[in-house]
Amino acid sequence: MSTLNIVTYPDKFLRLSAAPVKDIAGTIQKMIEDMAYTMYESKGVGLAAIQVGFDKSLIVYDVSQGEGKRSIQVLINPKIIESHGRITSEKEGCLSVPDLRADVKRAESVLVEGFNRDGNPRRIDAEGHLAIVLQHEIDHLNGILFIDHLSVLKKELYKRHIKKKIRGK
Ligand code: NI
Repeated sequence: MSTLNIVTYPDKFLRLSAAPVKDIAGTIQKMIEDMAYTMYESKGVGLAAIQVGFDKSLIVYDVSQGEGKRSIQVLINPKIIESHGRITSEKEGCLSVPDLRADVKRAESVLVEGFNRDGNPRRIDAEGHLAIVLQHEIDHLNGILFIDHLSVLKKELYKRHIKKKIRGK
């Protein structure tokens, strides 16, 4: 397994829409292993393929972290079928959006459909933290970052911060 390079804002690659996965053999299985490894190494709770420079509809996540044992979850071609309610996700962050944590308005519960790594259909009725993680990762597959849900002012301040940081290098 190897650590993959994480693409960070403002890289335009993060704005691509991921293409559906059509073949779950070979490349995809290796990518799942490497994405999981990279996610744990970076102490993330979720990672979308687009974040590691692979524009396919694939996410990995693990919301069990901190409870001792790891439980990696894989979703291929995930889609949000239904969403209900509103909650604020507190101090949401993203491995592709360094130096920022912010509160984001999200749906309270979502019904997600996709496929597992063996190609079998999965249907997940998620609420709370899991619902937030799924919305965040599925957003990535549509070229959306959590900063897109913030106010224009907050987003502008973050843009400036990153510009400054890049200039300072
Ligand atoms: Ni993210």
